[in-house]
Amino acid sequence: MRTGMEQSVGWTPAMDSHGADDGRARATTPPPAVAPPPADLMAAVTTTRPPERHREAGGATVICIANQKGGVGKTTTTVSLAAALAQLGARVLVVDLDPQGNATTGFGLRVAEGDPSTYQVLVDGMAIADATLHTELEGLDVLPSSLDLAGAEVELVPAFSRELRMRRALEDARPNYDVVFVDCPPSLGLLTINALVAADQVLVPIQCEYYALEGLGQLMRTVQLVGDNLNRDLELGGVVLTMYDARTNLSQQVVDEVRGYFGVRAYNTVIPRTVRLSEAPSFGQPITVFDPHSRGSRAYQRLAREVGERLGLAIAPVEDSPLDRLLGGASPVRPSAQEEA
Ligand SMILES: Nc1ncnc2c1ncn2[C@@H]1O[C@H](COP(=O)(O)OP(=O)(O)OP(=O)(O)O)[C@@H](O)[C@H]1O
Ligand SMILES: [Mg+2]
Repeated sequence: MRTGMEQSVGWTPAMDSHGADDGRARATTPPPAVAPPPADLMAAVTTTRPPERHREAGGATVICIANQKGGVGKTTTTVSLAAALAQLGARVLVVDLDPQGNATTGFGLRVAEGDPSTYQVLVDGMAIADATLHTELEGLDVLPSSLDLAGAEVELVPAFSRELRMRRALEDARPNYDVVFVDCPPSLGLLTINALVAADQVLVPIQCEYYALEGLGQLMRTVQLVGDNLNRDLELGGVVLTMYDARTNLSQQVVDEVRGYFGVRAYNTVIPRTVRLSEAPSFGQPITVFDPHSRGSRAYQRLAREVGERLGLAIAPVEDSPLDRLLGGASPVRPSAQEEA
């Protein structure tokens, strides 16, 4: 008998070796639309704490943006979401916890090796306020990173309470912000563990591609382990589908599949794949500044409202048209003037 999981992704288990597969079955069975999920993904997801509508009085909610898979949209989501929330009036801090420093340069900021940065905060115990830079957006600050941070994982190995460094550093910063986003590197090493220990919620970007679900079981298990042992407040805040391409069936299949697994933990807003989103970092501007009316910008503005609503921030509610929800724009999705050019 096929399990619900198999039916939902439309793949047939391999025939056994006792003659059931005469070759014709293989030829007529369509290939799976989405790579099969890890067997324990469902168990890991359902035992991970769900998001709750809450907001601690007087302190920021810390949201760690993590997925050990590279290039799925962690930094784009961090930069765009942070900017959109700041433009809605929230006080936002972005912590760049990736030695690649893409969240830093995404805001047009640059720090040389040795300048105050995430490295000094983690390794030398510098106060976050002393290393933070302001951006051109009001209410939006960045704790920048540089290549120094690449050495931190090794340097912290013998350090006392090495997993708690970011959590402790954020204690003093929390009262100054409504939301703190932590952009993680593409690994589950000590830097990401520091982010998970410091966080109230994990937000997981998932790229709309064949291998969308790969690695998620391991990520969920790590979230669970940290939640059980180091940070009992940690919740799975949600998953965000990124790089949705309306021209492919695959994208929609991934959306259905991921929503099937994550239920309410999947944000309604889906981020489209757009050229403007990929261009914005080279101009050192978040998409909401670079091309505010583009599809990508509107999608992230919408996601910001969803996130803000879930956190109980005082911002305008999300409209509820199904088309809007899927395409991530407040009005039927027309390209911006620059997109049309
Ligand atoms: N929705 C999108 N449409 C088009 N391009 C995108 C989109 N989201 C991200 N990109 C591009 O895809 C690449 C990877 O995105 P991003 O850097 O955000 O991923 P990441 O998960 O942070 O990567 P890493 O794991 O290396 O940190 C970048 O070049 C980015 O500009
Ligand atoms: Mg990144």
